[in-house]
Amino acid sequence: MLAGFHAQNHPQQVGSRGALDEVDDRGTDPAFVSGLEERFGREFTLDVAAAAHNARAPRYFTRADNGLLQSWAGERVWCNPPYSDIHAWVQKTWAEHANTLGVVMLLPANRPEQRWWQELVEPFRDRAGSPLTTEFLAGRMRFSRPGAVIGPKGDRPPFGCVLLIWEQPFSGLGGA
Ligand SMILES: C[S@@+](CC[C@H](N)C(=O)[O-])C[C@H]1O[C@@H](n2cnc3c(N)ncnc32)[C@H](O)[C@@H]1O
Repeated sequence: MLAGFHAQNHPQQVGSRGALDEVDDRGTDPAFVSGLEERFGREFTLDVAAAAHNARAPRYFTRADNGLLQSWAGERVWCNPPYSDIHAWVQKTWAEHANTLGVVMLLPANRPEQRWWQELVEPFRDRAGSPLTTEFLAGRMRFSRPGAVIGPKGDRPPFGCVLLIWEQPFSGLGGA
């Protein structure tokens, strides 16, 4: 045992303290999002967890709108949710995805032991007939924060990320 050693979690790794904008408000690199749009041949129409300075789609819901209480119907949805409340966002996606044109969610890839992954992702992902596929990303994402002075390597949390992609068979992100 290392006496007197206190491991310090990166703020984005702390899951139980409730949502805090100074911690959760980390924007995805816009180039990463447009890379996905290019790949799918479609642009996202709605960012369901955003603020005006970090929205990644023309329409967006902020904390004040509460994207968890809104309809996502008819939209091609981008979601990088507050990492303090992942369970609620994955649950909401399961409730909404069939009415959308697809949902892409960016999440930390280092929490497969947690309830949201075990109950809402693991039993369904990458199975024949399931709308949900997962893609574990290489390297570490760079996130941006309002007003933060960030070095050349960006604000990289000490974990990789995974994309959760809910697609509709005929009208989805990659569909004709
Ligand atoms: C991890 S950041 C994502 C920022 C950016 N939209 C992106 O895709 O990278 C999560 C954002 O969701 C916002 N947010 C927090 N709770 C929310 C809620 N209930 N409904 C909508 N947005 C919320 C936060 O203010 C923050 O800007």
